[in-house]
Amino acid sequence: MAKVKHDMELRPNPRTGRYRLISANWKMNLNHLEAIQAIQKLNFLLRPADYSYAEISIHPPFTDLRPLQLLIDSDRMRISLGAQNCHFETSGAYTGEISAPMLAKLNVTHVIVGHSERRQYFCESDEIVRAKVEAVFRSQMTPIICVGESRDEREKGLTEDRLRSQVDAAVSFLAPELAERCVIAYEPIWAIGSGVSAKPEDAHQGAVAIRSVFEALWGNDVANKVRIQYGGSVHPTNAADFMELDDIDGLLVGSAALDPESFARIIQA
Ligand code: 13P
Repeated sequence: MAKVKHDMELRPNPRTGRYRLISANWKMNLNHLEAIQAIQKLNFLLRPADYSYAEISIHPPFTDLRPLQLLIDSDRMRISLGAQNCHFETSGAYTGEISAPMLAKLNVTHVIVGHSERRQYFCESDEIVRAKVEAVFRSQMTPIICVGESRDEREKGLTEDRLRSQVDAAVSFLAPELAERCVIAYEPIWAIGSGVSAKPEDAHQGAVAIRSVFEALWGNDVANKVRIQYGGSVHPTNAADFMELDDIDGLLVGSAALDPESFARIIQA
């Protein structure tokens, strides 16, 4: 019996000592009824070994959070509940916004911050991203901070500068004990929703640049604890190429995570 329990525990990557995190960003898709079906199907498809391999977080639209929280609780699912965004203030006159404490109250554990779609369509600046990171930590949740270069920046050879400056802006104010708990999602903007992912060597280079910021600010110990995800056109057929890299600790998956079968295949890849 004890052995079975042990088998079901989340295990770190033996090569890095870091816990893997595979996340589904549903974006503005799946209403709460569709979300219930999707998560039930996903839970049916996932085996204990999958939950030992990686922590799995689902980031649905806000309106799905409460029903999914109830379902995860009542069925004792091992899926972590995530959000796609939050406001940086705790409460107040911010019509249409949702605060970090409201999310924490729903057992949300991970919040995506600074996704390129929010930076682009909702004018989120580095300063706003930084304030949101602070808000997520204040509510004892984990921020998944998205960074990535545009096609133009890549073509001009500015990729690493861009990544370093986005990461630095989002984390440099943190105490080391919080810095090491950050998750950074490297999502090249040109790879998002395009069907063309970055090459594994590009993801590796991006991860090296990202980790170097933590090393410069807090040293090796902190840098080696930070987890880095790759996101941008991840599918069942290319997921393993990224997960094999020692620098990459997980994936942030968009469209391929909407279908539970394809998301399960990504986790099992
Ligand atoms: P796609 O997987 O659809 O390219 O989206 C990636 C993404 O933006 C995840 O946050």
